[in-house]
Amino acid sequence: MKLGNQGTDRIDMQTLDAKDLPLLFQRRFGAEPLVFRAPGRVNLIGEHTDYNDGFVLPAALDLSTYAAIARRSDGVIRIHSVNLNSDFSFDLDQPQSRVGAWSDYICGVAVELEKSGYRLLGADIMVFSTLPMGSGLSASAALEVAVGYALLNVSGEEIDLLDLAKICQRAENNFVGMRCGIMDQFISCHGVEGAALLLDCRSLEHRTVRIDPSVRIVICNTMVHHQLASSEYTQRRRECEEAVALLSSSIEGVTALRDVGVEQLEEHAARLPATILKRARHVVTENARALAAVAALEARDFAEFGQLMNASHESLRNDYNVSCAELDLMAELARAVPGVYGARMTGGGFGGCVVALVEASAAAHFADAVGPAYEKATNLSPMIFTCFPGPGAGPAIF
Ligand code: GLA
Repeated sequence: MKLGNQGTDRIDMQTLDAKDLPLLFQRRFGAEPLVFRAPGRVNLIGEHTDYNDGFVLPAALDLSTYAAIARRSDGVIRIHSVNLNSDFSFDLDQPQSRVGAWSDYICGVAVELEKSGYRLLGADIMVFSTLPMGSGLSASAALEVAVGYALLNVSGEEIDLLDLAKICQRAENNFVGMRCGIMDQFISCHGVEGAALLLDCRSLEHRTVRIDPSVRIVICNTMVHHQLASSEYTQRRRECEEAVALLSSSIEGVTALRDVGVEQLEEHAARLPATILKRARHVVTENARALAAVAALEARDFAEFGQLMNASHESLRNDYNVSCAELDLMAELARAVPGVYGARMTGGGFGGCVVALVEASAAAHFADAVGPAYEKATNLSPMIFTCFPGPGAGPAIF
């Protein structure tokens, strides 16, 4: 890290490292902080299934958001974001409402923690993230979880990770106004080093699925984020709800698309308008693919896993209509590289990242094969990196 003479100004973001946070904190707030960390995620398969009570297979990233924190003697929360070089503060005793800025994630978490019965104390907080923002790797969930963890810790409250994940999801649903599912907050809390998690989003039962050392998870950031993302997300949720309303009148016991089988959907296809049928078809087939993919990964059948990833992308593109030209191109370029088993868009869509499963020996050449071709076609320089799944939220270890 390079600091100017006064310490807090002229921070060189290129050389800034999370382990510099305590020093930065001390210079700004004059106290010794504790530092907590929460990871972003990549979802291997099971996309747009979480809010349909279905199955997902995310892994926590080593890229994370860090929250350095020290208690204050009053009820004020003061926050500084290193990445945005922006500050804000609020009083825990005053009612808070959304302002449409990054601070909403933090305010939302504090509000929902208190609503759930936790008693928070005032604190100074400094946040810093190594996650690229708006890239579909869940920087917002990582921010919520890191700050929630830090606030609970300095307030002397017990930390129940499942409760924290649910509260952070509520902060996003109720305060920020984004109707996301539970996947991002759950994996940020429960990530396991070297593994993905198969999560049943209805029961929240989960189990680890080890990533074999002979393969690598490679993430390709398209560097685009289309504005449509959030309105289309809400629209998809509504379309799924409409499918459930129509199907539940003719199939017994259907409370979510999770309850509908692939053949069952086709039998009742005539009941659904064309667009609603396509949306339901994606969700229903994606749930089946997620479970088949876990079986393939556990059997070390990487070719099969790759085929399922490719099929997931096609379904997201053609039936769910949440892909975009840059994601399609990146997935296509990735699949053409020898040693790549499969590639698909990951996250909500309309930009963000492609995830590829790659033979370990081919991972080193992957970026050279894909990067220049993508750049030539789009004039955008992509960020391509191998992800080694890391642990979920906790104290930062430097
Ligand atoms: C976003 C949401 C998640 C999930 C994915 C799509 O990341 O936050 O809850 O719905 O999109 O799978």
